[in-house]
Amino acid sequence: MNAPAKTDVLEANASAAPAPAAVVPDGVYAETVLSVTHYTDHLFRFRMTRPAGFRFRSGEFAMIGLMVEGKPIYRAYSIASPAWDEELEFFSIKVPNGPLTQHLQRIQPGDQVLMRKKPTGTLVLDALTPGKRLYMFSTGTGIAPFASLIRDPETYEKFEEVILTHTCREVAELKYGFDLIEEIRNDEMLSEIVGDKLKHYATVTREDYPFQGRITDLLENGKIFTDLGVPPLDPAVDRGMICGSAAMLKDTKAQLEKAGLTEGANNKPAEFVIERAFVG
Ligand SMILES: Cc1cc2nc3c(=O)[nH]c(=O)nc-3n(C[C@H](O)[C@H](O)[C@H](O)COP(=O)(O)OP(=O)(O)OC[C@H]3O[C@@H](n4cnc5c(N)ncnc54)[C@H](O)[C@@H]3O)c2cc1C
Ligand SMILES: NC(=O)c1ccc[n+]([C@@H]2O[C@H](COP(=O)([O-])OP(=O)(O)OC[C@H]3O[C@@H](n4cnc5c(N)ncnc54)[C@H](OP(=O)(O)O)[C@@H]3O)[C@@H](O)[C@H]2O)c1
Repeated sequence: MNAPAKTDVLEANASAAPAPAAVVPDGVYAETVLSVTHYTDHLFRFRMTRPAGFRFRSGEFAMIGLMVEGKPIYRAYSIASPAWDEELEFFSIKVPNGPLTQHLQRIQPGDQVLMRKKPTGTLVLDALTPGKRLYMFSTGTGIAPFASLIRDPETYEKFEEVILTHTCREVAELKYGFDLIEEIRNDEMLSEIVGDKLKHYATVTREDYPFQGRITDLLENGKIFTDLGVPPLDPAVDRGMICGSAAMLKDTKAQLEKAGLTEGANNKPAEFVIERAFVG
């Protein structure tokens, strides 16, 4: 068999990997990918360097991007690492033919990822009034902002109990969440701070699993409270954060409002806050 011509090899490599951000747009950080973990055909996590001077609050999102054919493509991404971390972590979907993620899913250590300078978001502790128990309701990649918050000591200073719910279609999609819990348990400092305050409630909707069902149904029929051994939602003590599809936000919000909780925002803290995990 003939060896491929050198130019063929270069072209094959060029189409297999995202183009490096040779020209970095003004006012944007260009960071180096440090590690990439693929969970399923649809999900992966990556970590990259954190720019000196880049500050954010745990739970916020930033615009990240790649140079594709000479132009930057940006998308909103929750920062999955906590505010104290020296690196930045992201948990990503792989959308077939998605303008950004068809390229982002191929990044490798050493590649550059762009990030706009200003983080923002509503899933921050400051947007909630004081309470005892914090629920974080997530579906799919909606777990990302909570991956940040469950690793932030401030969460445990403000709440006596933290309940992370994560619902996906399939069991394999829950793995990132289980890895996070394991990481916390194995971290000397965090495990001491978190103690037994953090509960992880993972359910699936399209496969057999010991815990099944949409979070909305589990709130409606009370199974989540029985399973966790906690009382039903009470606006006097319970606070909530929700991150998922538009439909999941709407339906979960309705459940919290039915229990008497009211929606807050950065400039008007209240009993729960919401943010879309994706548009569409
Ligand atoms: C505030 C905010 C925070 C976000 N944080 C994250 C994050 O942490 N991780 C992440 O993977 N995405 C996140 N997204 C979605 C992200 O901005 C992009 O949409 C996603 O990376 C796909 O980009 P794309 O260009 O490949 O496809 P797009 O053209 O952006 O999306 C194409 C279609 O794919 C579906 N889709 C997009 N994103 C998702 C998703 N996350 N889960 C399931 N279906 C999806 C939708 O149907 C969408 O219409 C966030 C979006 C918002 C608004
Ligand atoms: N995840 C995959 O394996 C997969 C594979 C191929 C393509 N995609 C595409 O990727 C996109 C998003 O898929 P996704 O699985 O990440 O997100 P998703 O469709 O938002 O589903 C994630 C979880 O949220 C649940 N859910 C959906 N609507 C809800 C509501 N109104 N209230 C409460 N829970 C709700 C789903 O339950 P239900 O199962 O009951 O809907 C599922 O368990 C879709 O366009 C999909 O076609 C996903």
